[in-house]
Amino acid sequence: MRDIDFKRHRRLRRTESMRALVRETHLRTEDLIFPIFVLEGEGIKNPVASMPGVHQVTLDYLNEEMKELVDLNIRSVIVFGVPNEKDEVGSQAYHEDGIVQRAIRQIKEDTPSLTVVADTCLCQYTDHGHCGVVREGDIANDESLSYITKTAVTQAQAGADIIAPSNMMDGFVAAIRKGLDEAGFCHVPVMSYAVKYASSFYGPFRDAAHSSPQFGDRRAYQMDPSNRLEAIREAESDVDEGADFLIVKPALAYLDIMREVKDRFNLPLVAYNVSGEYSMIKAASQNGWVNEQEIVLEKLTSMKRAGADLIITYFAKDAARWLNQ
Ligand code: PBG
Repeated sequence: MRDIDFKRHRRLRRTESMRALVRETHLRTEDLIFPIFVLEGEGIKNPVASMPGVHQVTLDYLNEEMKELVDLNIRSVIVFGVPNEKDEVGSQAYHEDGIVQRAIRQIKEDTPSLTVVADTCLCQYTDHGHCGVVREGDIANDESLSYITKTAVTQAQAGADIIAPSNMMDGFVAAIRKGLDEAGFCHVPVMSYAVKYASSFYGPFRDAAHSSPQFGDRRAYQMDPSNRLEAIREAESDVDEGADFLIVKPALAYLDIMREVKDRFNLPLVAYNVSGEYSMIKAASQNGWVNEQEIVLEKLTSMKRAGADLIITYFAKDAARWLNQ
């Protein structure tokens, strides 16, 4: 019964082994970067209410957490600090014994095989919750660069393998690159949050990191979700300034941007699968509305298909467990 002409695509889908043979995109545990939130103090493992399965931990819990990652074959972490003290300029961000600097030192000592990425921003450390210093109601770009650079240098001194600036000030890659080079860290790469949108998907993170702006919002420095060409301009200037990796953030609502950045620039591309994307899936699966394992692997694979080489994700441990099965 074939008097019309058509193609038989289903030939390549008939069995699992045939599907595996023609699969184009592969997700590996090595692609995943696990975010951790470190707290000052001792003996605390605090669940983040809006992110089931995510905890803030004090340093005495860190080693077992890192060992778990190594056992799962996850190779890298990104460290976020939750300091006790905040002030106008976020001085705990660049203190040599700040919570992140101590956490980095401890991880590099105890679990040297892990690649430690330091998130470099001021918002968890400033009393107003903005990512730079505030002058006359505005976030002062150039003055903020000096604080963010100091932060990057102390993180490198603590042993960070990669510096990941996320504060969206203009020129942050150039400033940090110069600061690192002058301090003797020309070998430490910069993973730039090059394309970071002012997104409502960050809501749960701000609970986890205590980093909500106390007035206004971040739209005068993070990008407008409507813009595509602006993403290219942002990535282009970071490449010119010496970035070694580019991050697109958030991930799911911005897969088009990811593909475009990947096609235009020859740098490793990182997707940041952000907190709101995590919490929505957790909530739906806790209600039994979706199959968590299938939906998480599908969505992480879609980020790789869109061009991401690496994915920062709170699902890293779960995904690694499923991938290792
Ligand atoms: C800090 C920072 C944020 C996130 C990562 N680094 C929050 C923000 O910009 O408000 C968000 C991560 C997430 O939602 O998972 N600048």
